[in-house]
Amino acid sequence: MVNMQELTIRRPDDWHLHLRDDAVLASVLPFTARRFARAVVMPNLAPPVTNTAAALAYRERILAALPVGAVFTPLMTLYLTDTTAPEEIDRASASGAVLGCKLYPAGATTHSAAGVTDVRRIDAVLARMSERALTLQVHGEVTDPAVDIFDREARFIDQVLSPLVERHPRLRVVFEHVTTRAAVEYVCTARAGVAATVTPQHLLLNRNALFQGGIRPHLFCLPVLKREADREALRAVVAGGNPRFFLGTDSAPHARALKEAACGCAGIFSAHAGIELYAEVFEQLGVLERLEAFAAHFGADFYGLPRNSGTLTLERRAWSPPASYPLSPGELVPFRAGEQLAWAVRA
Ligand code: DOR
Ligand code: ZN
Repeated sequence: MVNMQELTIRRPDDWHLHLRDDAVLASVLPFTARRFARAVVMPNLAPPVTNTAAALAYRERILAALPVGAVFTPLMTLYLTDTTAPEEIDRASASGAVLGCKLYPAGATTHSAAGVTDVRRIDAVLARMSERALTLQVHGEVTDPAVDIFDREARFIDQVLSPLVERHPRLRVVFEHVTTRAAVEYVCTARAGVAATVTPQHLLLNRNALFQGGIRPHLFCLPVLKREADREALRAVVAGGNPRFFLGTDSAPHARALKEAACGCAGIFSAHAGIELYAEVFEQLGVLERLEAFAAHFGADFYGLPRNSGTLTLERRAWSPPASYPLSPGELVPFRAGEQLAWAVRA
């Protein structure tokens, strides 16, 4: 695959995406819709999308914000709280538009204050999700401030995720945005029905990047970037073509002023290069021919959805993301702003 100039793949899906709402939604959605046929849309709006009616209304707003001619399907999720009722799972399942429910441990990340304080409280909901074949999408970090931030994912596996997966043997679970060797090992050895998404930033960068020549707020996301050995484990597992690991950008737009602040928000915006960044990773790994399965097969197969029918062509053409994209209000600093990318989506 040396010197490949062009790569045509089945149209990919983004299995973890933040689109927000209103004007921000309108600004960011075209980037995703141009590349991906479907995306799993995260429900951490303010207020969060905690019920089926809200998810269906949000879905309509997304469809209304699509550029003319775009072919894109949003796959909706509900935001679990301590008080989610099992009947809500029935309604979500009956709607046909809700793919799963997102577990945010309360306080773990952006807009997670209404999340679950103790997963034991939602066991009845998880049981109903197993029955209705809705997938649980998990933000896998403990929130105990006494636990070192770099250990929160590993601790979550032992204390929360592994017991939960065993208590609900038929529940399908996606461990979102895995960042550590511990998570890779867990997912590789977990029972059937457990998978993971992997972001571009956790494949491309380690935690040194956060402090390269000064503090880099635009590289702050949660889970935070980890050490090089963790990045190596992520790269090795995707290079190996393990079908339990698939594409989820976690693209998460925040206005520049909220990132460049005394207490900056977590989130990296990557939708403008949502497939190009992974092409770079797979090329670095010498397995560009495996990009298609990671981006367009494994996730669909895990979720039991058809693979997309269209194609997307990437070409070797250097380009630089701009310093910022307009956002109303403010502006959005994209991942790799001003730096060169080797791959571009063919117009
Ligand atoms: O960095 C992050 N940003 N991690 C999350 O879990 C949430 C996301 C967001 O919504 O901004
Ligand atoms: Zn996310």
